Amino acid sequence: MSHEVVEKNIGLMVVLILLVVSIGGLVEIVPLFALTETTEPAPGVVKYTPLRLEGRDIYVREGCYNCHSQMVRPFRAETERYGHYSVAGESVYDHPFQWGSKRTGPDLARVGGRYSDDWHYAHLNNPRDVVPESNMPSYSWLAKNELDGADTAAKMAALNVVVGATCPKCELYSDDEMANAAAEVKGKTEADAVVAYLQGLGLASKSW
Ligand code: HEC
Repeated sequence: MSHEVVEKNIGLMVVLILLVVSIGGLVEIVPLFALTETTEPAPGVVKYTPLRLEGRDIYVREGCYNCHSQMVRPFRAETERYGHYSVAGESVYDHPFQWGSKRTGPDLARVGGRYSDDWHYAHLNNPRDVVPESNMPSYSWLAKNELDGADTAAKMAALNVVVGATCPKCELYSDDEMANAAAEVKGKTEADAVVAYLQGLGLASKSW
């Protein structure tokens, strides 16, 4: 009977639908405010060194995420291949995060330490030198481009703002670290930066 009232009164129905949707929304959203898992670094997760930060930016610039995800799903087929599944607290220093879902190549969330630095340099220069059947593009210019470090401190300061706002327990860059950053990366190649970035991916998860 009461249902008939709702069905015949579209205004009332709209109000009731909005009520139901907002309760559903609140049930999903409110617990997130109390959940620290997403806003605290997972054990062993540390902030990026200046060189790794530059490497991460080059990774984004070159669009590596178009073919590589960084998100190991909690399924046996994935954890046996890559290692521990990804957790939210690994991404606290990642703005923007690189999770993705497109996997033309393998997931890279656990690639740190899997190969030697030399392997990575050769692979970036021409993937087919180390993986003959690879269809990954070669990124030979990375070894030729040198970093000048002009923007490194500014990138760190920007990251301090977003990390500081979203992750109370995260470690921010100190003034000293920012002041020394340019000298730390200057003269290194873009390949150095990308390899440093890749070699750090997922290291923390090895101890879980
Ligand atoms: C067009 C798609 C494509 C793009 C873009 C791409 N890759 Fe790949 N990548 C692949 C494929 C396919 C493989 C697997 C074959 C191989 O190892 O070369 C791979 C493999 C890799 C591996 C080895 C992973 C493992 O576990 O064996 C690394 C590291 C890697 N890519 C890094 C990068 C980086 C860094 C970039 C950006 C500079 C990049 N890739 C861009 C397709 C791509």
